Amino acid sequence: MTNLEDEKYMRRAIELAKLGEGYVHPNPLVGAVIVKDGRMVGSGYHRKYGCKHAEREAFASLQNKEDAMGATLYVTLEPCCHRGKTPPCTEAILEHKIARVVIGSRDPNPLVSGRGVRILQSYGVEVVEDFLKEECDALNPIFFHYITKKTPYVFLKYAQTLDGKIATKTGKSKWISCEKSREDVHFLRHRCMGILVGIQTVLSDDPSLTARYREHPRNPIRIVLDAKLRIPLDATLVKTAGEVPTIVVTSEEFLDADSLREKRLALENAGVEILGVPKNPDTKHLSLTALMQELGKRGIDSVLIEGGGCVNDSAIREDIVDEIQIYLAPKVFGGTAPSPVGGIGVSEVMDAKQYHFQSVERIGEDLKLCYRRA
Ligand SMILES: NC(=O)c1ccc[n+]([C@@H]2O[C@H](COP(=O)([O-])OP(=O)(O)OC[C@H]3O[C@@H](n4cnc5c(N)ncnc54)[C@H](OP(=O)(O)O)[C@@H]3O)[C@@H](O)[C@H]2O)c1
Repeated sequence: MTNLEDEKYMRRAIELAKLGEGYVHPNPLVGAVIVKDGRMVGSGYHRKYGCKHAEREAFASLQNKEDAMGATLYVTLEPCCHRGKTPPCTEAILEHKIARVVIGSRDPNPLVSGRGVRILQSYGVEVVEDFLKEECDALNPIFFHYITKKTPYVFLKYAQTLDGKIATKTGKSKWISCEKSREDVHFLRHRCMGILVGIQTVLSDDPSLTARYREHPRNPIRIVLDAKLRIPLDATLVKTAGEVPTIVVTSEEFLDADSLREKRLALENAGVEILGVPKNPDTKHLSLTALMQELGKRGIDSVLIEGGGCVNDSAIREDIVDEIQIYLAPKVFGGTAPSPVGGIGVSEVMDAKQYHFQSVERIGEDLKLCYRRA
């Protein structure tokens, strides 16, 4: 087997892994391909949380079980060796008498991390590690973050004009970015388990925050930061709370306040969950750090923040943002219109929060810019 052939089959496994995007949370995206005598005899990917892992899908796709004997398995993530919702994949690999396993990423899950490789090697299976590692790692920033930190991977997304505005001076933001960019945002919503906005955005835009992406999108849990429960009962988010899970986050101190009891009951009757978190003494707003810890405990591995500027400022100041996605539209608003990050700002250049450039892509008439935590 040449290195070029290895590359061809691992790239196929990567493409397969991506088909699970949005459906496997909080599990990783994984693809697998089985090759015997220069021919692909089986392939599969992790389709949905709780369903078979990619390796088992690939074995299930074999026409003859014997085809796996002496074959090479390409898998984008180290095979698991622990019993979770499904039995260990290392067992299936040994049962099928695979001779060689080519792995992309090492699994950072402390229950696996290198153990999967060692088990296979101890049974005489040849293992190649870190193959197309960068591309394979790029499949799973969310999983790698969540499994080690136990808090969601946080995307901060906004659409801005060339002069750095996220709304007009009268607060209108529909639509800054082009239609293709908005479709791209719906894919990001489908990929994330939670979506977070501030109450002012709800009052200005009355958004639905659902994922309108292909035939079977997965809606994120909608989360509104609203310390004083100002959200109107006729807001779209409240009216649709019976269909799409919706959490309104309020201040712990107000949770049992008499003045809010009636509103709270009305929201709960509409299907909204009310969650109390403490305030952050620095930002004077609800603590996003405490909220992320709570969401992590609930198994929410990813959150998309769709601002406005006040919430974006708190998120950056509390340093919960892992990735910033900006849709830059070729428009200029000028004047006193708001910018993506509000708050008090810094006085010195050296006090700026720093991010690393990740990618740039042209989408319709806009540019999509991605930056990661430094
Ligand atoms: N172009 C874009 O991509 C985009 C995206 C979203 C919004 N927008 C625009 O942005 C504008 C709204 O932005 P905004 O800055 O005025 O308000 P915002 O960020 O939507 O909401 C701010 C409010 O949220 C509440 N809040 C609770 N916890 C918070 C926390 N930890 N940090 C910050 N706020 C918290 C506060 O009210 P309480 O104290 O009452 O809780 C605060 O006043 C609208 O015009 C909207 O159209 C544009």
